Order: sequence, then C-alpha cells, then structure tokens
Amino acid sequence: MSLTFTLDPAVTPALRDGILDLWADVSNAGGAVGFVPPVARDTIRPELVKHFVGMAEGRTRLLVAHDEAGQVAATAFFTFNTHRLMTHWVWLYTVMVHPRHQGKGYGRDLLAAAADAARTFEGIEAIRLTCRGGLGLERFYGSCGYKEVGRIPGAIRVAPGDDRDDVIMLLPLA
Ligand SMILES: CC(C)(COP(=O)(O)OP(=O)(O)OC[C@H]1O[C@@H](n2cnc3c(N)ncnc32)[C@H](O)[C@@H]1OP(=O)(O)O)[C@@H](O)C(=O)NCCC(=O)NCCS
Repeated sequence: MSLTFTLDPAVTPALRDGILDLWADVSNAGGAVGFVPPVARDTIRPELVKHFVGMAEGRTRLLVAHDEAGQVAATAFFTFNTHRLMTHWVWLYTVMVHPRHQGKGYGRDLLAAAADAARTFEGIEAIRLTCRGGLGLERFYGSCGYKEVGRIPGAIRVAPGDDRDDVIMLLPLA
C-alpha cells in the first residue's frame, strides 16, 4: 500500500467530501486538528470552506494524498503570509493522516512531500506550524526534521480544566 500525493488538486465534490470525512474521522479519533470529539462534518465544513477560499485567492495551497482505493488519506495545507516582511516562510495547517493509515510512516511521507513542495515555492525558506501539546506531536515533527522554537503555555483549552501548550515548530528548508 502506498499513497499518491497531489499538490494543488482540482477542488471537486469528491475531494471536498473526502477531506470532510478525513477531518471528521481524524477529529473523532482524538486528532489535534482544531476540534475535539464528538464533532460533526457540518461543524468542520466552514473551516474547510475557509481553506478553499484561501486556495481560490492564491493564499493557500493544498497537498493531498490518496490511497490505492482512491480515498483521501492525508492532507496538509500551506498558507502564505500577507505581511510584507514575512513572505519568506510559509505556514502548514491541518496536517492529518486517516486513522486507518496512521502509524505506517505515511505522516513522515506527508511531511517530506510538504517540504519538497515548499522548496518549489518562489522565495520560501522555511515551514512553520503549531501543534497541541500533550500528545507527543513534537516527537513526530522532530522525527521529520522540525525543531521546537516556542511554546505558549496553556494557550489551547481543549476542555474546562484541560489547557494544552501551543507549540511552535520550524523547518528551515536550506
Ligand atoms: C500526527 C500524524 C500526522 C502522524 O502520522 P502517522 O502516519 O501516524 O505517523 P508516522 O507513522 O509517519 O510516524 C512517524 C514517527 O512519528 C511518531 N509519531 C506519530 N504520531 C505520533 C504521536 N501522536 N505522538 C508521538 N509520536 C508520534 C511515530 O512513532 C514515528 O516515530 P518512529 O519512526 O520513531 O517510530 C497522524 O497520527 C495524525 O493525523 N494524527 C491526528 C491529527 C493530528 O493530530 N495532526 C497534527 C496536527 S498539529
């Protein structure tokens, strides 16, 4: 089994529904992609629409992976900065691998493909992202070459009494 990566796929109903299913399944399995379980597709849909609007406006680019069955298996969204002094690096958001495919090295493949893609972006020298503390994600990103460069204590309130650090990770592309 292997994944097929596509940068800037055409936004079709199948892609939209596939990403919604992926995002809901990942979230409901406890993944740290902006929601806490239980979450419905309709709650996630506006966040996906925001990504699509960014893509239509050229501010966001999508790297998607399909599995051999043709299902959407993984995503990572790049967002460019509008601040004129920060156009030399890019944000990476909504990094996720479907729960049925996790733990097989696909996350690392996804991040390697994201770095390769970002190297083709004009003038981009680094990838920055944030992740939720307390899940071991720093170790995952560390295994992909990212370094922790900052941490905001308790910035993410996943539930009353359960605050998590917002961890800032950076990958220089040189
Ligand atoms: C995080 C995620 C993308 C990793 O993808 P994956 O395919 O499961 O990861 P891989 O199989 O490529 O693992 C690569 C390495 O990271 C480690 N790793 C993966 N997920 C980890 C986690 N949550 N905590 C600690 N280590 C993790 C693996 O053990 C492996 O290390 P090893 O080579 O030393 O064994 C995936 O688990 C996921 O989608 N999680 C839910 C969504 C999420 O939280 N995304 C992060 C948003 S910031």
